[in-house]
Amino acid sequence: MGKCISFHSYKGGTGKTTRATNFSFLLASKGYSVYLLDLDFYAPSLYSYFDIEPSLWINDYLMGNASIDDIMIDAKSYLKPKFKGELYLGFSKGGKEDIYQLEGNLNTDKEQKLKQFRNFISMREEVLVGREADFIIMDTSPGIRYWSINSIVVSDIVLLTLKMGDLDLKGTVKMINEIYSSLIESGSVCKLLLNRVSGYCIPSHMNDLHEFVANVDSQYVQKVTNMVNDTIAGSVKVGTLAEIPCYCDIQFKEREYLTVSELPNHPFSIKIDELVEKIKLYA
Ligand SMILES: Nc1ncnc2c1ncn2[C@@H]1O[C@H](COP(=O)(O)OP(=O)(O)OP(=O)(O)O)[C@@H](O)[C@H]1O
Ligand SMILES: [Mg+2]
Repeated sequence: MGKCISFHSYKGGTGKTTRATNFSFLLASKGYSVYLLDLDFYAPSLYSYFDIEPSLWINDYLMGNASIDDIMIDAKSYLKPKFKGELYLGFSKGGKEDIYQLEGNLNTDKEQKLKQFRNFISMREEVLVGREADFIIMDTSPGIRYWSINSIVVSDIVLLTLKMGDLDLKGTVKMINEIYSSLIESGSVCKLLLNRVSGYCIPSHMNDLHEFVANVDSQYVQKVTNMVNDTIAGSVKVGTLAEIPCYCDIQFKEREYLTVSELPNHPFSIKIDELVEKIKLYA
């Protein structure tokens, strides 16, 4: 059966959406069947990578008002570059009223919450079993939010992104202690993804330097991994699965685009490819 993977982080702006979208496209271009779901209801941003205006949303499915066919959009009809596999996109709607409908009051709306969570589990089953997808990739909201926790709970693999520079080790470790540790003990895989590790800013056309800049300081990566593990309570340990340097051309681009598709030789794309290869070991 396929795998469900969540991209999560304690703080915002760590690179979850950037990595989830590029990772999903690369998997699809390698022939896999991939469903990329925007579960960041509080600040959806998948739309910024795809010029698509959905008529129905994941919100509608969770509330029992739409089917999987209604909400999953075939990216092949919208993306210019051709790719081997399949990429379906599920968008979320994050207006004030939409958030209230999905968030509500956990104490007074228990029945409704339960129904939405059951629908969430059904969505996973319909995609992985019914449609025989290879991967569901979930982009989540940062921190301990209701739908982020739900996403983590239904995932086989959780990729916890840390942004270097303003590392929030305390918050991340607290989240691992309070939520992740019991999931890890019950068999989920949880790995750190370090993002914007200090690197070198060079223009993307300088191909001969890319091999050099794709390398990051492995001692630094080890140090951060140890710092996380040393502060986790109990015997649970998480390793670092992948690290990506900070690239100015990605940080300051005028519009979001799929780097792996538009600049396949960019060191960022090479790093995403490495992540794909590592994830394949768990698939
Ligand atoms: N390796 C990188 N190098 C440089 N810039 C990056 C890198 N990864 C991501 N960014 C940039 O950082 C910004 C934040 O990334 P992104 O939106 O993916 O974070 P996020 O974790 O999804 O944020 P949020 O928590 O608000 O949803 C974007 O402008 C993105 O282009
Ligand atoms: Mg995001």
